Amino acid sequence: MQPPVETQATISTIAGLHAHADGQATLQGWLYNKRSSKGLHFLILRDGSGLAQCVVAEDKVDAASWQAAEAATQESALAVTGAVVADDRQVGGFEVQANAVRLVHQAEEYPITPKEHGIEFLMSNRHLWLRSRRPWATLRVRNRIIMSIHTFFQERGFVQMDAPILTGNAVEGTSTLFEIDYFGEPAYLTQSGQLYGEAMAMAFGKIYTFGPTFRAEKSKTRRHLTEFWMIEPEMAFYDLAMNMDLAEDFLTHIVGDVLRDCAVELEALERDTAPLERVQKPFPRLSYSEAVDLLTSDKTAEMLDARLAALEAEEQQLKEEQAENEKSYGQAKKWRKRQIDQRTIEIHKRLAEIEEALRNIPEWKASARNFEWGGDFGGSDETVLTWHFDRPLIVHRYPAAVKAFYMKRDEEDDRLALGMDVLAPEGYGEIIGGGERATDLAFLKKQIADHGLPEEVFTWYLDLRRYGSVPHAGFGLGLERTVTWLCGLDHLREAIPFPRLLGRLHP
Ligand code: 4AD
Ligand code: MG
Repeated sequence: MQPPVETQATISTIAGLHAHADGQATLQGWLYNKRSSKGLHFLILRDGSGLAQCVVAEDKVDAASWQAAEAATQESALAVTGAVVADDRQVGGFEVQANAVRLVHQAEEYPITPKEHGIEFLMSNRHLWLRSRRPWATLRVRNRIIMSIHTFFQERGFVQMDAPILTGNAVEGTSTLFEIDYFGEPAYLTQSGQLYGEAMAMAFGKIYTFGPTFRAEKSKTRRHLTEFWMIEPEMAFYDLAMNMDLAEDFLTHIVGDVLRDCAVELEALERDTAPLERVQKPFPRLSYSEAVDLLTSDKTAEMLDARLAALEAEEQQLKEEQAENEKSYGQAKKWRKRQIDQRTIEIHKRLAEIEEALRNIPEWKASARNFEWGGDFGGSDETVLTWHFDRPLIVHRYPAAVKAFYMKRDEEDDRLALGMDVLAPEGYGEIIGGGERATDLAFLKKQIADHGLPEEVFTWYLDLRRYGSVPHAGFGLGLERTVTWLCGLDHLREAIPFPRLLGRLHP
């Protein structure tokens, strides 16, 4: 029997092909696409690191290899050995001219085809959909963000520490708790590692947690998952202003890394990078009261009217283009028909977005205008606020009534808590929530009681205010919100490998 082809040449990843230019290499992967003509198969192979075209010519390979190339169907597993040739016109810049092909596994008919699929179908096949181009690009950006987060904190002397996932107390209100039975005692999946982060900051100075968090979000929105990943720095001897400075440095660092290292992924996602290039310090900062003034102002109403007018004009233009395309379709050449089909998909997608915006904006305009001081901003209010700025917006000093029990009060105005949110631009809204923490034991005890929380489970937390209580602050960044923003997605469900949402537990 022939030894497997891959033992005859060095095994390479597609991303590593450049190291084998003008030599031989074996790729191991899955068939992404195939074009065939007489005596030739063009196999587009994917191996997770990239895509590469492998050319199999009947007169250059043995019968078994030719058979394998013939038989290979979408997502069949293959090993292809051949000459590595630089070719700028190819995806990835290299082509492999095969001299041996081995079929590792013949795939059954694959459910995800190049045609358009609905999102529910794709989500139900998420375990397979992960292999497609868009999830590939998105989740590689996620990976780059994770790495960027670690280097940012590690380079600044923060210690990464893990908070428990099973907890005995609520952090962010009692309405979104997942309760479980912990050997007869009620316990909860953590909503945030913050309280433990505070204990760890008193022990290590500057820490950050990076872990899964859970919220029983009972409504379906684009911005909420029931399981998501949060990064929570917590720093002893930091006040609100230092906290905001850190958040600003943190976000500019992440965006810079992604822009520098994820050009291929962002292009695959058709992400316009110009708005990301503008994410530079300083970020605008508004107090909550200033944000309310802006939200309810004529300036906001005019900005929204201008948006509506621009969207209506764009809608008109797209409809005219579509009518033109339909008129010329009958007489069009084959290549032009294909071009029109492609464009039609784009136009339909954009028209659906515009239609949704034209429906939403008048409602958002009314709710912005009628916003009353004291309430929490809704998703649409955040979106509207971000449209005034070309970079992330920091809103600070919220009414204490809409924030968590642990927030420090503003000495200048007791109605206010020293909290801050960072809102991502382009309508994305809140990605960071945080603030300065209350340090006084008696105040915190009262807060716990006022929020209807049981003091017994916070005994350990209150100890932090008994032994060397110091000013401290921190924040939480939502990882999926960040991925969604940087990738330009319209829903958080694509920003995590296997999303957990209301009504979605499988796969
Ligand atoms: O604003 P939140 O609720 O703040 C906290 O949990 C604080 N304890 C953090 C701290 O100060 N250490 O949540 C922080 C961030 C939000 O800004 C958002 O990005 C994300 O977590 N987040 C969610 N992401 C996805 N799905 C959800 N249901 C989310 N809820 C919050
Ligand atoms: Mg928040």
